[in-house]
Amino acid sequence: MEGNMGRLKHARALAYVSWLTSLSSGSVSGEPLPIAVLVSGTGTNLQALLDTVHGREVEIVAVACDSPDAPALERAARFGVPAAVFERSAYADRESRDVAMADWLTERGVRLVVLAGYMALLCPSFLERFEGAVINVHPSLLPAFPGLRAIEQALQYGVKVFGVTVHFVDAGVDSGPVILQRAIELPDARDPDEVLAALRPIEHSLLPEAVRLFARGSLRGDPDNPRRIVCEP
Ligand code: GRF
Repeated sequence: MEGNMGRLKHARALAYVSWLTSLSSGSVSGEPLPIAVLVSGTGTNLQALLDTVHGREVEIVAVACDSPDAPALERAARFGVPAAVFERSAYADRESRDVAMADWLTERGVRLVVLAGYMALLCPSFLERFEGAVINVHPSLLPAFPGLRAIEQALQYGVKVFGVTVHFVDAGVDSGPVILQRAIELPDARDPDEVLAALRPIEHSLLPEAVRLFARGSLRGDPDNPRRIVCEP
């Protein structure tokens, strides 16, 4: 059993390395790349994408949400972007919900999935269908403070430098290869809201920048170290 598990993990790791080195992001035709944004809450990162890259390098063709009350849905509606709610309670299990969501995104021709404050974990089958084309924004300098309440974790630890990471999503929690990171020194910070206020503008510039790089086909894994994502100008 142990041996089989080990072989499975090894095979998965090899497959993962192979997609990273063969990353072919971007729009082949020069047309805006069709992308989806997954949200759960306020949607300020969705708004940043709508204001900066939507209708330019990319076309946001789908907004998927796991909560019917998320203010992010109103932002999509204001821009006439099709939105759909995939509530966990409407499906037998997480897997069926993710299959339904992936089917909808596939129907809409999505080539990149952007997690912008999406609070649910995606099943491996979803990630396989959008292999190498799911990215996330996280309010810490990964690998420090992955998972929920990253800012609170960082404050609790007593760090003086905070930051934002945009990374590819793999099957782990905030563990995929880093695309962009930016730090900010806040040596006296005590309050999560104060840190969040400082990180917001960074998120709102870093996430569109990563989407732009992906859409231009400027991202690839360094063959010597596929975890290292090279951003070509
Ligand atoms: C952001 O802080 C993002 O880093 C985290 O969730 C938050 C989403 O905020 N993953 P919003 O819904 O985009 O305003």
